[in-house]
Amino acid sequence: MDTNSIIGQLKDLSSASGNRDETLKEAVRLIHASNPRYNWTGIYLLEGDTLVLHNYIGKPTEHTHIQVGVGVCGTAVAETRDINVEDVTKLDNYLACSLETRAEIVVLIKDSEKIYGQIDIDSDTPGAFTDHDEQFLGKIADHLATILGV
Ligand code: SME
Repeated sequence: MDTNSIIGQLKDLSSASGNRDETLKEAVRLIHASNPRYNWTGIYLLEGDTLVLHNYIGKPTEHTHIQVGVGVCGTAVAETRDINVEDVTKLDNYLACSLETRAEIVVLIKDSEKIYGQIDIDSDTPGAFTDHDEQFLGKIADHLATILGV
């Protein structure tokens, strides 16, 4: 399914149900199903200075709460930037969810005012994430920001 179809489905769902939590869960389901290299897909929401795991698909993780500035996820918030890591084994500040993970991408859910959270994806394939993934996830994140910003 392409990006516009996914965003279309999320728009239909959010206007039909108005249920923020259901929309965030459906976003994770659609993103995860869109690419076999996405081995763990989750959304964290920012509450104060803590990222709280809202929902995910993949192996259970102990990292359900991450402080801003800690790990790849917390660094993305602290530096207000998306992060695409080709090889997590080369990082000092990485919080491991699974020993098989090799690549990770974090895309912020934000608008000009505020960071609401992030889409976080792990892959067992080194260098799994391309410009295409960054753009695809960025469009979905922008749409989710419109839902979380109301
Ligand atoms: N690897 C992340 C932690 C979250 S797990 O990947 C699910 C990090 O370093 O922040």
